[in-house]
Amino acid sequence: MTELEQQLQTARAEAEAALAACADVPALDQLKSKYLGRSGIVSSALEQLGKLPKEDKPRVGKLANETKKALEAAIAAKREELEAKAAASGPAIDTSLPGRRHEIGHLHPLTQIFERTVAIFRRMGFAVEDGPEIEDEWHCFDALNTPADHPARDIQDTLYVDLPPDPKYGRYVMRTHTSPVQIRTMLKQKPPIRVVVPGRVFRRDNPDATHSATFHQIEGLYVDKNVTVADLKGTVEFFFQQLLSPDTKVRFRPHFFPYTEPSFEIDLSSPHLAARGKEWLEIAGCGMVDPNVFKSVGYPDDEYTGWAFGFGIERIAMVMWSINDIRLFTENDVRFLEQF
Ligand code: DAH
Repeated sequence: MTELEQQLQTARAEAEAALAACADVPALDQLKSKYLGRSGIVSSALEQLGKLPKEDKPRVGKLANETKKALEAAIAAKREELEAKAAASGPAIDTSLPGRRHEIGHLHPLTQIFERTVAIFRRMGFAVEDGPEIEDEWHCFDALNTPADHPARDIQDTLYVDLPPDPKYGRYVMRTHTSPVQIRTMLKQKPPIRVVVPGRVFRRDNPDATHSATFHQIEGLYVDKNVTVADLKGTVEFFFQQLLSPDTKVRFRPHFFPYTEPSFEIDLSSPHLAARGKEWLEIAGCGMVDPNVFKSVGYPDDEYTGWAFGFGIERIAMVMWSINDIRLFTENDVRFLEQF
């Protein structure tokens, strides 16, 4: 027996012992490259074949090939065995676990109310108007027939902007209501006018459960010939029935606003409120446009009548969803927001 045959036999025995002890696939791969790889024992035996005496070549060649085949088969069998064992001990992923949910964002509850409100008024033929959040005293107060000594203009309520006043329109203010957009609309357009104005307003208020230094309103304005209180009441009632529920009732209580005469406060009665043990809730202000307001925008005397209203959006949201703290709308706590 040649030395090479000896080596091949020893290598095969050694490999078979190592295979029997092999416990995982990486170890198996190492064994494979040690014995069958390019510089492994079988390959080098085959390379040395050429140097052997002629009569030994066929025998040794055959042995080398047999060794190679036998080891390949043993390694393949071992691989199958190891893989079957790994599969039986359970998959790496537990497919019975519930999947991880991807949250989908949605509109802020106040934005949802704005969108629904605007949609309802659009169906009644209203257009959407917009105005600046930094206003001047003339548009915010004077043109709305609010006298210079009115408490709303007080430094307590209004945030004045630290800018040199406009020579014509007075000091700059953070608008305290959306009503100045009534003025801006009437100045640029003649009746008939039907607009709603969704927007943000500002007051010098200390935040608590029912007050916020910034909140939202939607203003409405309808001006034409022969517009009446009946139009106003019918429109407001229809709107709340559409937004809240068909059995919602509204009640008008006499009130005072400088820019309307007569003026009313609107009370709401709806199942949403009944569920909270309340019968009527004051929700908004409205009235017939004061003739002095028409005068400020240069409309001719006695030609037009009109009505206006201002709703608090947070207030409506609080009724709709039984929310009891206005601060929740601006805190951006996901646990609150994801409920809507
Ligand atoms: N501007 C009022 C406020 O901020 C709300 C309001 C009342 C608006 C009567 C109106 C109105 O247009 O006619 O409280």
